[in-house]
Amino acid sequence: MLCLGIESSCDETALALVEDGRLVEAVLASQADVHALFGGVVPELASREHYRFVGALFDELMRRSGRDNADIDLVSVARGPGLLGSLLVGVAFAKGLALGLGKPFLGVNHLHAHLLAVGLEHELRFPALGLLVSGGHTHLYRMESPWDCRLLGRTLDDAAGEAFDKVGKFLGLAYPGGRLMDALARAGQAKPKLFPRPYLDNDNLDFSFSGLKTAATGLAAQQLAGHDWPRPLTDVAHAPQVLKDYCASFNLAVVETLCAKAKRALDRNPDLKTLIMAGGVACNSLLRESIAELMQSRGGRALIPDWQLCTDNAAMIAHAGWLLGKNGYHHDLCMETIPRGKAIPQDMQC
Ligand code: KG4
Ligand code: ZN
Repeated sequence: MLCLGIESSCDETALALVEDGRLVEAVLASQADVHALFGGVVPELASREHYRFVGALFDELMRRSGRDNADIDLVSVARGPGLLGSLLVGVAFAKGLALGLGKPFLGVNHLHAHLLAVGLEHELRFPALGLLVSGGHTHLYRMESPWDCRLLGRTLDDAAGEAFDKVGKFLGLAYPGGRLMDALARAGQAKPKLFPRPYLDNDNLDFSFSGLKTAATGLAAQQLAGHDWPRPLTDVAHAPQVLKDYCASFNLAVVETLCAKAKRALDRNPDLKTLIMAGGVACNSLLRESIAELMQSRGGRALIPDWQLCTDNAAMIAHAGWLLGKNGYHHDLCMETIPRGKAIPQDMQC
């Protein structure tokens, strides 16, 4: 089964073809440079950029893959969560294509697709703990199967990626700050006690990163006073050592907080021997190492996708579409976009 996936929920326009669970071809146009001028995603601009690129990207995908439009067996698209205008562009394009080709159509929850993405590289194992860490979400799931996922905990305010990006913006790092923060942290020496580990002193599996963000801006005045660097900062080479050390301490606080709640979830669900990590923050080098070590120390296994599959991409949409489509899930053309998202698996209904 050849499944087309379309991703347009935020600032990447991406299309991919997956055949029987394996990636055939993928194309992606990032809008990061456009939004970097404003220090964050501008929704109206994002929709216009998706609209400008989606048709040409589809032609490019089909040309590169050497397949014919008629070979496509299923058209899948991210239906939310995401920016309404951006989602509408992808969904309208997908519906038109499905109608024109006379092929089935499926809307996929973007978060669900992130969680299943590692299935393109490794055999998915269930039951598993799902740790989804993206720009807008920090979720812990108990995953019984690809379509049976129960939310165990979530962030009450900022997501981990949002905390990286907001602190990065405050420090004058190029948008989005998470990736450079990670690179700076690798070149720095962390002070383990500099930042608090937020929202651990409780009995739940939720997160709260907004206090850490406030602490970070306060501590910056104290730790970084008298030092300067080019703004926006785009590389490690132009950063002073104090900034690298500060980022290492912040990074450590975020990573240890995520690991502490993941460990708590595993302690409460002792039958879970697999942890599936997903989302853009799963690119973070210290987080990847720490989660792998956590699972190793428990005799389990962490499934973490290669970094291109962690950030927004269409291969994950095509893969989730294939997995759900072959198990009988489809939508009709009345399916709506869901900007705020719906809990998995309710999104598999219209
Ligand atoms: O999953 P994603 O591409 O988009 C959403 O669905 O939100 O995640 C983007 C987030 C951004 O906040 C970005 O700063 C963060 O992932 N990110 C990182 C790293 N690479 C991307 N955060 C920390 N370390 C990284 N290496
Ligand atoms: Zn995402």
